[in-house]
Amino acid sequence: MTGYFEGISVFPIALGTWTFAGDRIWGASEENRCIQVVHSALDSGIELFDTSPNYGEGRSEEILGKALIGRPEAQVATKIKIDGLSVTDIRNLIYGSLKRLKRDRIDLMQIHWPAAGLDETRRALDVFTELKRNSVVRNIGVCNFGVFDIVETADYPIISNQLPYGLLWRVIEKEIAPACKANGQRILSYATLQQGLLSGKHRSLESFPEGRKRTRHFLTPDGSLYRLTDSTLRDLHTFAADCCTSLAKIALAFSLSREFINTVIIGARTQEQLQQILEAQKLQLSGEDLKNLESITEPLKSKLGGNPDMFKDESRVRYNNENGDPVR
Ligand SMILES: NC(=O)c1ccc[n+]([C@@H]2O[C@H](COP(=O)([O-])OP(=O)(O)OC[C@H]3O[C@@H](n4cnc5c(N)ncnc54)[C@H](OP(=O)(O)O)[C@@H]3O)[C@@H](O)[C@H]2O)c1
Repeated sequence: MTGYFEGISVFPIALGTWTFAGDRIWGASEENRCIQVVHSALDSGIELFDTSPNYGEGRSEEILGKALIGRPEAQVATKIKIDGLSVTDIRNLIYGSLKRLKRDRIDLMQIHWPAAGLDETRRALDVFTELKRNSVVRNIGVCNFGVFDIVETADYPIISNQLPYGLLWRVIEKEIAPACKANGQRILSYATLQQGLLSGKHRSLESFPEGRKRTRHFLTPDGSLYRLTDSTLRDLHTFAADCCTSLAKIALAFSLSREFINTVIIGARTQEQLQQILEAQKLQLSGEDLKNLESITEPLKSKLGGNPDMFKDESRVRYNNENGDPVR
């Protein structure tokens, strides 16, 4: 299915605003600084802003709404979790987002995680479709959909799938990215800097903030994934030093180089971080650089296996395992 992309920014970078939540994961956030980052992003050509009512119980949407007053060129993508929600609950959630965002339309309305039951997912998509007909929703998107949900919802006009992808998380390469392409869905990626692990500040996993040690890299009981992620991180630092550039720039350039990624959503929280990210667009990795980065990260990719859920062992994302058997 193609032809649904009109009207959504094709600038390769979007700004993610989860850090505006000021929660246990990201630490404190100051409203004025968040607003400045949004204004700098707009002034630098970024048009798309990703948020959710789940980020700080609406704080991210509220701050973004204030920042976007008088900036009609900005586009907003938001997303809701749908498990256990009725049609009325879903509508109310969307109208709540519109109020906090101070807008009369959502440019990209996304499902945050597929529901456990396909019926629930389809019910949410029906509500999105109805609101699209009423021009309250401009485009419909999903997040964290594996092959099963992509195929089972292919009859809806879904323009995008938001998925984790980066040097420390290449799981989608095998089957999800090809399934998105086959179904005409753009990929908006997150986890480019692995929540800051690839920022350059952390030479080992130890110094990473406790609140962010939530992904599968940290969770295997025998610590094997932890050790492999740690050694991969060290090798990536060495690679960046050899290239005389920062690891954050390498990580961004790597994601931007992937032909299956359309938009990289990045969680810059200061104007300086934002400017560095924009500069990284100029970094062209050679074919040999890309091959080296792939081989440094290949053992981790292989050890992570097929489960595309970055946060949980018991996957919420329905996928096919190494033997090609469906996991759902
Ligand atoms: N759909 C979903 O399920 C989902 C899940 C996660 C995220 N997202 C979206 O993706 C966005 C990004 O989140 P993410 O988890 O992918 O985070 P990320 O972008 O991988 O990492 C964000 C962190 O990277 C560091 N950083 C940012 N710019 C930097 C720079 N130029 N140089 C060095 N470090 C830099 C900052 O770390 P410090 O805080 O240490 O400074 C920041 O907190 C979110 O805001 C959200 O919109 C969506």
